[in-house]
Amino acid sequence: MIWGSHVQAALYTCIVIALASAEEHTNKHKHRSSIEVTLVPDDEFFVVPMQIGDSTLNLSIDTGSSDLWTFSSRLSPAEQIGHNLYKPSRHAQHLDHYNFTTSYAEGTTVSGTVYKDKIKLGSLEALNSSVQAAEDVPISFVTQTSRDGILGLGFGNINTVRPIPQPTFFESIKDELETPVFTTALRREGERAGSLDFGFIDHRKYKEDNLSYTPVNQSDGLWAIRLDGYTVGDLTSKQFRVETVAVDTGTSILMLPNQIVHDYYAQIPSAMNEPSMNGFIFDCDEDIPNLSMKIGDYTATIPSDLMAYAKVGQLHGETKCFGSLQSQKDLGFSVLGHPFLKCQYVVFDMGGMRLGLGKQVV
Ligand SMILES: *[C@@H]1O[C@H](CO)[C@@H](O)[C@H](O)[C@H]1NC(C)=O
Ligand SMILES: *[C@@H]1O[C@H](CO)[C@@H](O)[C@H](O)[C@H]1NC(C)=O
Ligand SMILES: *[C@@H]1O[C@H](CO)[C@@H](O)[C@H](O)[C@H]1NC(C)=O
Ligand SMILES: *[C@@H]1O[C@H](CO)[C@@H](O)[C@H](O)[C@H]1NC(C)=O
Ligand SMILES: *[C@@H]1O[C@H](CO)[C@@H](O)[C@H](O)[C@H]1NC(C)=O
Ligand SMILES: *[C@@H]1O[C@H](CO)[C@@H](O)[C@H](O)[C@H]1NC(C)=O
Repeated sequence: MIWGSHVQAALYTCIVIALASAEEHTNKHKHRSSIEVTLVPDDEFFVVPMQIGDSTLNLSIDTGSSDLWTFSSRLSPAEQIGHNLYKPSRHAQHLDHYNFTTSYAEGTTVSGTVYKDKIKLGSLEALNSSVQAAEDVPISFVTQTSRDGILGLGFGNINTVRPIPQPTFFESIKDELETPVFTTALRREGERAGSLDFGFIDHRKYKEDNLSYTPVNQSDGLWAIRLDGYTVGDLTSKQFRVETVAVDTGTSILMLPNQIVHDYYAQIPSAMNEPSMNGFIFDCDEDIPNLSMKIGDYTATIPSDLMAYAKVGQLHGETKCFGSLQSQKDLGFSVLGHPFLKCQYVVFDMGGMRLGLGKQVV
């Protein structure tokens, strides 16, 4: 961790629960909240509405980064169009001489200035949490009007605020929760809304009697677990250890080592690695296999209908689909993104530094 415990101790955070939501908590010092998550189909984000300072903004949830940044009035008027903007509350404190620059895997960068302000998500409220107000955003974020920023749910050791990195929103509220966990039950298009729950595990949301837990390696700031093997359809089954696999709500596909990718597409006759598409495509009308992943004693099966990411157009008279599984190339780690999260119930347990998995009840 870059920020020491003395920094944490200096940050006063308090959670306030609305009196009306009595069933939201069992003990006045221990809180929980269930947040509805909306899938924005065209853009493939999962957004939650958050009250930040005096504004309500939709932020996309990202367990693969640790910055909470927002569109703000510090952007140029052209960049603000179509977005809700962060307005500091009268209690906000601007951290003079602080700034941030966060870079995402696709090569984009967001930078700006830093406030401490109140943030409310569901019935959870942090009174003095870090809010990173963007002053410079790439055009790709400007045109995505379905989100007004990102809620980073990774570990604070990769927060990009300088000179002193700040704890994440979750880190600033976790000690007030019944248990220091958040969970996801993300849904595909056309299904009812998914959920992001804080402080409790909802046994109605998974099928097994018990969840399977696997250790998390947080040294890179990610919810990184180990993969022990994989099965493609009913044919190819291999023991294969992958040390660093990030479970990431901010990535729309699965990014895995070449061996798994090649074993998977070897079972789809029309599949080809198409350089102009930057990855594997295949005929949309072809039957494609399931992909199962062995994680400790647990097997997560991603059904075939989640293995086609999107139609990408016609080639030689066939409608082509871009695969949900692609090579991680030189990323340096693997990623289990939306296809995994849309079929699994996932417990992100910061207390136990572990991840709990079960098959989602849809
Ligand atoms: C909020 O946090 C900042 C440092 O991050 C601190 O200087 C300030 O005193 C805190 N404000 C309150 C009201 O606790
Ligand atoms: C947030 O997104 C939802 C779903 O797209 C939308 O209904 C809602 O109006 C948005 N809220 C704001 C504050 O823009
Ligand atoms: C951001 O802050 C760091 C240290 O706090 C400083 O060295 C750097 O010049 C600042 N960057 C900008 C763009 O202001
Ligand atoms: C689930 O956990 C309980 C309590 O730890 C244990 O008694 C039970 O055998 C477990 N069930 C299964 C199917 O593993
Ligand atoms: C955690 O990950 C880091 C960096 O990827 C690696 O160096 C370290 O050995 C890992 N720790 C464990 C216990 O696997
Ligand atoms: C995928 O898995 C499901 C359940 O495990 C099974 O019913 C289905 O037949 C499998 N589909 C294929 C194409 O293997």
